[in-house]
Amino acid sequence: MFDRIAWRYDFMNRLITFGFDQHWRKKGLKAVNAGTKDVLLDIACGTGDLVEIALSMGAIPIGVDFSSKMLHIAKSRVINAGFIKADACLLPIKDASVDIVTCGFALRNFTDLDKVFKEMARVLAPAGRLMFLEVYAPKNKFLKLGHSFYFEKVVPFIGALLSDKKAYSYLPQSVAYLPPTHKLFDSLYKAGFIDLCHKTCFPNAAQLITGVKNNYETGI
Ligand SMILES: C[S@@+](CC[C@H](N)C(=O)[O-])C[C@H]1O[C@@H](n2cnc3c(N)ncnc32)[C@H](O)[C@@H]1O
Repeated sequence: MFDRIAWRYDFMNRLITFGFDQHWRKKGLKAVNAGTKDVLLDIACGTGDLVEIALSMGAIPIGVDFSSKMLHIAKSRVINAGFIKADACLLPIKDASVDIVTCGFALRNFTDLDKVFKEMARVLAPAGRLMFLEVYAPKNKFLKLGHSFYFEKVVPFIGALLSDKKAYSYLPQSVAYLPPTHKLFDSLYKAGFIDLCHKTCFPNAAQLITGVKNNYETGI
């Protein structure tokens, strides 16, 4: 599916989020103080948005994704970063070799979240930082109605017109697949993360989760 939508992925993201997606990515990277010489692994990097911003902040980013077409676009766009084709469940990265792990809008797509969290903990150095961005469905009844209408009707319609109908109809289904925050936190804690923090991003359509790898419970 991601190979099919890669060519229009960035355009569609900017359009359906009214350009907010890039603000969310910047906010996420600032939240984990991504900066000079931090080795940053962006898992499920897609076309390289987070990698490109991390590079501009002075970090040393590496993007990982299993879609050849997403990676092809990422590589031609961010030429000074490293990219690896791999599955998030089995990262070809050394234990404790990374300062920051990020993952933007991809948690919903992983079939085994616990396995991915374990891999993230394995590659992070002790006290390494973790940052996720994900779509968010507001809790307020009225906002929720508007949100559902937009993501279940408007986005699939625009997606069908400009990109791929099936892929953009999958978006609301994949949002439903994402576990609630307390369950995500339980899984992250079990994988060895502490200082977990959850924030929503304006206009309440994205969520930002950060954490730190526990120094004492490395499991490696
Ligand atoms: C919605 S896109 C997000 C792309 C990017 N992170 C962003 O901020 O826009 C999801 C990405 O996750 C990748 N992906 C999904 N499951 C994966 C897995 N198990 N291993 C590696 N990449 C995966 C897809 O190929 C796709 O590029």
